[in-house]
Amino acid sequence: STIIFIEHNGTRHEIDVADGNSIMAGAVANMVPGIDADCGGACACATCHIHIDPEWLARLPEKSEMEASLLEFTPNPTEGSRLACQIKVSPCVAGMTVHLPAAQH
Ligand code: FES
Repeated sequence: STIIFIEHNGTRHEIDVADGNSIMAGAVANMVPGIDADCGGACACATCHIHIDPEWLARLPEKSEMEASLLEFTPNPTEGSRLACQIKVSPCVAGMTVHLPAAQH
């Protein structure tokens, strides 16, 4: 399914990510800048922080306690903050826009 990544500077990347893969894996495989994913997707580093608009956020499963607590340590957490490694791509999120934070550049 297609995921649209918007960098902090406005650069847009429209990427086809295989369903079942995480948003983080799709970004890394396509060299989208702004997702470092230092821990490789273990929900332990918070360098895959992304911001998701409310209408899309509502379609995602709730975050785990572990994800929520890691997000507190990111530089600019917002209501729409999520960890890209914890969100699986599926047809329900086809076309979702994710915003990349400035701090991960
Ligand atoms: Fe480390 Fe997501 S890749 S928390």
